[in-house]
Amino acid sequence: MSFLMTIGEVSRRSGVASSALRYYEERSLITSERAGSGHRRFPRSVLRRIAFIVFAQRIGLTLEEIGAELAKLPPGRVPSRRDWARLSSNWTARVDERIAELERLRAGLTECIGCGCLSLDRCQLSNPNDRAAGLGPGPRYWIGDRPPA
Ligand code: FES
Repeated sequence: MSFLMTIGEVSRRSGVASSALRYYEERSLITSERAGSGHRRFPRSVLRRIAFIVFAQRIGLTLEEIGAELAKLPPGRVPSRRDWARLSSNWTARVDERIAELERLRAGLTECIGCGCLSLDRCQLSNPNDRAAGLGPGPRYWIGDRPPA
């Protein structure tokens, strides 16, 4: 198995379109070497970075945020387990935040979310007279504010 991969091979293995890989490279999230032919050649270790990028996007990180996280990895060598562990402290906090958001989202489907609609029977208790509007715009209880006790 070759250590250097073409963009097509990386695309097939990662499940990410070649156009997206080129975009990641433009944004310096991944890097390749140029073969004598001028074609991109990626080290196999790029697959782990791509997996990180894809999952980070899924939990809502922007490419700028992902770039900032990846910049913590050492340049010029394959990141070790320790390098990834150092990066994961921030990452863990973001994942926990996202889990909390998703749990509120799930619970909120049948509850008052403090959006101001006052359309559910529960709104009379949770958000009487749209009291949540005083906390700011948007569905306040989905965002994380608590309804009055
Ligand atoms: S669901 Fe919109 S204010 Fe209660």
